[in-house]
Amino acid sequence: MVHFFYLAAQFLRRLMGLVKASITGVHGYTPDYILTNKELETMVDTSDEWISSRTGIKERHILKEKGKATSDMAVEAIKGLLQKTNTRPEDIDLTICGTVTPDTVFPDTANTINHKIGASNAWGFDVNAACSGFLFSLSTGARFIESGRYKKVLVVGADMMSSIVNYEDRSTCILFGDGAGAVLLEPSNTGFGLEDEILRGDGTGRDYLVMRAGGSLNPPTAETVADREHFVYQDGKPVFKAAVKGMTQTVQQVMERNNLTSEDVTWLVPHQANYRILTSVADALGFPMEKVMVNIHKYGNTTAATIPLCLWEWENQLKKGAKLILTAFGGGFTWGATYLTWAYDQ
Ligand code: UT7
Repeated sequence: MVHFFYLAAQFLRRLMGLVKASITGVHGYTPDYILTNKELETMVDTSDEWISSRTGIKERHILKEKGKATSDMAVEAIKGLLQKTNTRPEDIDLTICGTVTPDTVFPDTANTINHKIGASNAWGFDVNAACSGFLFSLSTGARFIESGRYKKVLVVGADMMSSIVNYEDRSTCILFGDGAGAVLLEPSNTGFGLEDEILRGDGTGRDYLVMRAGGSLNPPTAETVADREHFVYQDGKPVFKAAVKGMTQTVQQVMERNNLTSEDVTWLVPHQANYRILTSVADALGFPMEKVMVNIHKYGNTTAATIPLCLWEWENQLKKGAKLILTAFGGGFTWGATYLTWAYDQ
């Protein structure tokens, strides 16, 4: 029944000629400094063998320059994006930044980005959805395009995880890296674009993956700092299990209601948290790994940046009309799957 209503709504949408949002460019940025598993071996009690076999990560990029923050990585990604799409900063209407590491708690990072790139006619805001930050931001940006009022929306996923990682905690410091990826959303002129999505956020996992202090529940004090509560805390096993289940289910649901099989889908683009999660999800869905974008070995988990960094890396292989399913899972828990058709040949 639900499926019928969904298809009817899609049909009406087409009939009424409603605007569809499409990605018209993508670019990424990772800082120069590379933190290898070998270097981590000198910092905590770990080994390249453990990290590689348990996570698939070999190295991650870290922003080391003093005075630089999340917005600076986002700006680098956006500058490349504006150049390759021939877009003037003053033509941007809106910037949405998915991040859990804003430059400051307020003002938001999107604001700072607009200032730094010269987007003088734009407004913006941050989306805090942990590792689902890019997916949730993309959905939000698409609604603005679909309204007909917005023509150029920047959607950025950017995180400087090194600023909230405890480099004495071997269970988390080996996982994360820094980076940013950005896409430009415009009204589709090819018929391709964002087709459907199933997004979720239920709060059931908020104790498993969390920064415990610094918010209104536990404002910063000398005690919270001494107790190292301003760093990422993660209980990995329950997060792992929920990630596999959440991503698999939402991808399955979105494929079902769009009549897609794994053969029809050109690329699965999952959030990069752990190579074992990626293979479990791909196996459960019947996707061969050749159809799954994987770059976790080079960047680790860059939180909101992993999906746009994948799109950036694979951009020259993406053909107009290719069917992509993006999927993410993160703290909260937040998760979901987005189906889109690629709108351009590079
Ligand atoms: O991006 C948002 C979503 N996040 C995720 O999806 C992450 C999900 N979780 C995971 O990826 C995995 O749970 C981890 C990679 C974080 C951990 O892997 P695990 O297989 O669940 O290991 P574990 O935490 O159960 O630890 C197994 C053992 C423990 O030792 P004992 O108690 O068995 O003696 C840990 O102390 O491995 C030990 N350990 C390590 N050993 C060497 C934990 N971290 C390390 C380390 N090096 N870095």
